[in-house]
Amino acid sequence: MQEFVGKAAFVTGGASGIGLALCRALAEAGGKVMLADIEEAALDAAVASLAGSGQEIRGVICDVADPTSVDAAAQATFSAFGKVHILGNNAGVGARGGINHIALDNWRWVVDVNLIGVVNGVRAFLPHMRAHGEGGHIVNTASMAGMVNFQRFAPYPATKYAVVGISEGLAKEVKPLGIGVSILCPRFVRTNILESARNRPERYGPATPTDTTNPLYARFAERVRTGMHPAEVARRVLAAVRDDELYIFTHPEMRSAVEERFQAILAAFDRAAAPSL
Ligand SMILES: NC(=O)c1ccc[n+]([C@@H]2O[C@H](COP(=O)([O-])OP(=O)(O)OC[C@H]3O[C@@H](n4cnc5c(N)ncnc54)[C@H](O)[C@@H]3O)[C@@H](O)[C@H]2O)c1
Repeated sequence: MQEFVGKAAFVTGGASGIGLALCRALAEAGGKVMLADIEEAALDAAVASLAGSGQEIRGVICDVADPTSVDAAAQATFSAFGKVHILGNNAGVGARGGINHIALDNWRWVVDVNLIGVVNGVRAFLPHMRAHGEGGHIVNTASMAGMVNFQRFAPYPATKYAVVGISEGLAKEVKPLGIGVSILCPRFVRTNILESARNRPERYGPATPTDTTNPLYARFAERVRTGMHPAEVARRVLAAVRDDELYIFTHPEMRSAVEERFQAILAAFDRAAAPSL
């Protein structure tokens, strides 16, 4: 998709971090934008912050884990803008993991938001994009944690590997419809993701308290706080949408970690191909 002027976008997690930066970049490129988010006050502030962009900016409350909520947000977007060409399935949360924190509520929450949220977005918007026939682009926010698991036995990388997998499949299916797919895989970005639990619905029970004195956590938190600026991530996303790129990497230094994983996989194939003794 070369041109954003006059095109409408729907972005989940639009009230904060990468989602908000993406909405700002789309508006600056001439697009109309619907910010969708579960956090009402942050959403209102985010919409207000984009009011001077000169574009049509709206906000809608939406819980991506709930298909009824996503369908309602989609209908509000169609009513506001008519045709929608860009879908950003970006909302995401992190929760504690590791073999000492196997809480099923954590798994359900993170899977519902990070994985089922993407499915709900595609389910609500793809029929509309197919029907208007003008093509479009879907950006699914995964993570570098969808390429290499640095986070132990945890729901976050599980969902991000899944987002990479389903997006690769989706890309093949929608290409003949003139719809592109990009998979955003950043490493550390300076956002509010460390405070994900602020938007954890009660139905998933209380969050496992974070031990902020744990040196591993402190190092991780510092790397998020000093991570890439979300505007830089959004700039890469728009370039990738224009050039119809499937994978969007923002941190080139992660190449060696991905190579290491792939080499281990290729070595296993070499063993499979070796004559058995
Ligand atoms: N920050 C990083 O270092 C980093 C790295 C890789 C990938 N990501 C991914 O980027 C995406 C955006 O996260 P961020 O870093 O900007 O964090 P953020 O916390 O700043 O923004 C996430 C947004 O998602 C919203 N949200 C949470 N649950 C929701 C729900 N059920 N329905 C709708 N909205 C919901 C939050 O209210 C918030 O506005 C996530 O998918 C995250 O996994 C972040």
